[in-house]
Formats: sequence, C-alpha cells, structure tokens
Amino acid sequence: MTPLSAATNQHFGRTESSIGGKQITMEADLERILFDEGMILRRLDELATQISSDYRDRELTVIAILNGSLIFMADLLRRIPLPLKLDCLSVASYHGGLQTSGEVIFRQVAPPDVAGRHILLLDDILDSGVTLNTIRERLETASPRSIRVCVLLRKIKQRMRAIDADYVGFDIADEFVVGYGLDYMERYRNLSCIGVLRKEVMSR
Ligand code: IMP
Ligand code: MG
Repeated sequence: MTPLSAATNQHFGRTESSIGGKQITMEADLERILFDEGMILRRLDELATQISSDYRDRELTVIAILNGSLIFMADLLRRIPLPLKLDCLSVASYHGGLQTSGEVIFRQVAPPDVAGRHILLLDDILDSGVTLNTIRERLETASPRSIRVCVLLRKIKQRMRAIDADYVGFDIADEFVVGYGLDYMERYRNLSCIGVLRKEVMSR
C-alpha cells in the first residue's frame, strides 16, 4: 500500500460533510460544541474506574447497542482491564430523524445469550427511554443474573418509559446532539466531539 503523503493526511484530518451537495467541514454544521474529545476521554477514565471497581469480583458481559454506542464502546472498554465478554445488539428506533418512532426494531434474529450473566448495557444516549426499556425488558426474559445500564449522555427530560442509567457520562439539556457515534441521518458519527447541530442543517 502507498503511504499517505503529509498533504493527503492533512486533507484527511479535515472531516467533511456533503449535505446539501456542498463540501463543508462537519464542525461548521455545529451551533456549538458541548464536549470536546479531551473532555469525553477524561470522563471515560472516571467511568471505567467506577465500572472496573464495581465488577472486579463478577464476570462482566457488555452488550453494546449499535450503531450509536460504537465509538463510546471502543474507547470505554479499552479503559476497563477486566476479562469481560462483549456482544452487540443492533436496533433501530429513529429511522434517521429527530424523534423516536416509539417502535424498536431488533435487526438480529438471535438475541445475545444472557442467561446467568451480569449484563452491562451500553448505549450512546438516554432520550425517551423507549429503546433501553424495550431492550432491558426483552433481555430480562432470558434470566440474566443482573442488568445495569451505562450511557454516555442522558437528556434531562420527562421520559416516555421509566428507565434510568446506572452509569452516566454527562447529563445534557433536551436538544439534538451529534458526534462521537451519534448521528443525524447517519452522518456526523465520526466527529470526535459532541455538539448541537445548527437548525438550518436539520431543515435542509
Ligand atoms: P430513546 O429510545 O428515545 O431513548 O433513544 C434511542 C436512540 O435515539 C439513541 O440510542 C440514539 O441513537 C437516538 N437519539 C436520541 N437522542 C439523540 C440525539 O440527540 N442525537 C442523535 N441521536 C439521538
Ligand atoms: Mg440515530
């Protein structure tokens, strides 16, 4: 493989978006940045320390909810030195838009094996609560020993379903955010920070 030139690397360092047909940087679509990469990683250090201590005597199985938790999962789990097992669950509830559809579609035929295990569910964000509540109820029917929930973000709002998280990265106001795994119409997941999208971007 040909190594990338410095110039090409520089170009790749600029994360670009083509919504509306125009090539612009993804950061330019943000109204403001809530958490930069450094803030996120420092908080993950704290979360990982807490989870590692809580599960030091138990065999932990992490179930990451895709696609939103992908980047969070990768950074958090590498900070936890326990011999944990990892499984993923792919669901859809937003169908690309801003509001939950209220319906959670499981893309997998066979759910992960959770019987007798200590489960930690990982998701990007707790919003209406529909997704995590539905998954939790579904997994509970398969007799896990325990289930806890860990989210990177928790919106402060009235939820449609009664569910809370045991581990939370950051509490945020009830506004639509993207980056660090979170998407709008499947874009912006690869932004290294988390920010609020400009209103114009969502209406075009
Ligand atoms: P809930 O079922 O409403 O709690 O949210 C479930 C999913 O909706 C999350 O896992 C995210 O993928 C997505 N979601 C909720 N709020 C946001 C947001 O502000 N930005 C991007 N995705 C979001
Ligand atoms: Mg989404």
